[in-house]
Amino acid sequence: MSFFYSKDSIEDLKERVNIVDVVGRVVPLKRSGSNYKGICPFHNEKTPSFVVSEQKQIFTCFGCGATGNVFEFMKRYYNLEYIEAVEKLADEYGITLEKRNRDDRRDRYYEVNRLAAAFFYRAFTEKANRGYSYMKRRGIAPPVLKKFGIGYADPEWTSLVDYMNSQGVDNKMLIELGLAAESKGRVYDKFRNRVMFPIINTSGKVIGFGGRALSDEDNPKYLNSPENIVFKKKNNLYGLNISRQSVGKEGFIILVEGYMDVIALYQSGVHNVAASLGTALTENQAALIKRYTDNVVLSYDADSAGRNAALRGMDILKNAGCKVRVLHVSDGKDPDEFVKKNGREAFMKLIDNALPYGDYKLDAAKSGLDLSSNEGRIDYIKRAAEIISSMSPVERDIYIAKAAKEAGVSESAVRMEVSPEYAGSVHGEALRGGSGGRGAEKSPGDEEIIAGRDRDLLILAMRREHYIDTISTMTEIFSQESSARIFNVIEKDYRENGALDENRVMDALTDSDRMLLKEACDSTPFYEDEEKVFRDCMRDWKLSCLTEEEEKIITMLSLADETGDDRKLKTLMERLKIIQMDIQAERNLG
Ligand code: CTP
Ligand code: MN
Repeated sequence: MSFFYSKDSIEDLKERVNIVDVVGRVVPLKRSGSNYKGICPFHNEKTPSFVVSEQKQIFTCFGCGATGNVFEFMKRYYNLEYIEAVEKLADEYGITLEKRNRDDRRDRYYEVNRLAAAFFYRAFTEKANRGYSYMKRRGIAPPVLKKFGIGYADPEWTSLVDYMNSQGVDNKMLIELGLAAESKGRVYDKFRNRVMFPIINTSGKVIGFGGRALSDEDNPKYLNSPENIVFKKKNNLYGLNISRQSVGKEGFIILVEGYMDVIALYQSGVHNVAASLGTALTENQAALIKRYTDNVVLSYDADSAGRNAALRGMDILKNAGCKVRVLHVSDGKDPDEFVKKNGREAFMKLIDNALPYGDYKLDAAKSGLDLSSNEGRIDYIKRAAEIISSMSPVERDIYIAKAAKEAGVSESAVRMEVSPEYAGSVHGEALRGGSGGRGAEKSPGDEEIIAGRDRDLLILAMRREHYIDTISTMTEIFSQESSARIFNVIEKDYRENGALDENRVMDALTDSDRMLLKEACDSTPFYEDEEKVFRDCMRDWKLSCLTEEEEKIITMLSLADETGDDRKLKTLMERLKIIQMDIQAERNLG
């Protein structure tokens, strides 16, 4: 935000002006539903695609993609810097902006942390001390120590408290930051006799500390700042302030568990590294990573805790849209030990050989199972199927083959395990009619008939088997459960026999499904233009996927708007624009 004016007063200004008035002064607007519409001032157009939302206080052009809040509009329209836009608007509305207050609450906390970091740093560098000897013994060179701002907290009880008091910092603040604690009316230093790792966010602010004990007998090994108004562990990664440039350059980030892993890798020349600080990776951390790269290599400790953390971390990252690979060091307990022993080149080799998501997950699924026994193989396939079911269609194909090979069973068996609706129709009556389970069947009377796109697709698949391949790549193209079930039977017959046989399919279906399919086929003896019907089905399907996506983005947009996340707002608007253009293009084709 602004360096000159307090955040509050800018927020206040934003609240007091109405974007509809601001825009309306220069762009004629007409009410349209709950919004206003006009000709976009940012590109040439004849029909209005420029929308101003009074409710959300944003503008958006669906033609050129321009979007933002009232300040963004001022910036663009009058060609101003952000701060000039704010000033102009304040001026026009006769609002006085408050100069930024040096005592802004958060800034005071950052400032105290910075003072503390400098205090620890001086103690570490100015004269001989146990902290410095410790880090030397661990092989970290002075320039690297300096780069990370490593410090030392001496063993006395009030060194930091005394210093801070002399600087006019009160104890309440120190206690809130976790730098001091109070007992029996006395305030004392929380970090004593420790090597201090300042934790610095990507804006360069000191948000907290980790303090390492100097001997392995001392507990806890690491003492960390508690959560407070400036330290939110879940939102930050250790070292990212230093590594982010290199992450951009290398195109990926290496995530490790500990402070020392970051520092040791950095010293060895691996700079694109950050640490999740020994806790399970969070969604916020994944989102933070995504600002810099989509590619993540997890390099957690070799022990079982590290393996489990990697398994969980992978899912979080994958859900955030990252591509993840995992490596575990082959020598030593963590990346720190490995790289000190084997050097950078050897570590880079590990990175090259890191396992992709699917391989790592399937590998882990084997643990504790004996694949030479039937039970072991069955359990393995069950676990594998669960993993595979969350994958995209193409990934599914690849990993179904791998899992099948691993367990020595057929791919179609794994496929059935992955999509249980398969089993429902294939195994016929035996599996049905159970108490309420999947496949519990409705009688033909209360099963809706198959209609619309589902009906056309089934008829086409029955009559022209070459459509089966295309249809089978579209997961969830069928909107009715019954048609999905019937299609699975059709596909299975086609795959197993290399050609479709209508009678075989009819035989394999349950009575009610058979009636449904017959009813559908009889309803439409022929199509005038099969190819066109098929194309329309596909277009219709694509459109409904796009519309669904569009709705999702609009929901997210309203959330992003609430949280005032301008960056997110912008990427969402961009995505929305692309989707809406796709939708328009699909509609034009029809
Ligand atoms: N950690 C912590 N508190 C502990 C132990 C660990 O906060 N009592 C966090 C620290 O952020 C630490 C990370 O978990 O860096 C990983 O733990 P570990 O592998 O035990 O520490 P290392 O970073 O490897 O430290 P060292 O090499 O000094 O043992
Ligand atoms: Mn270690």
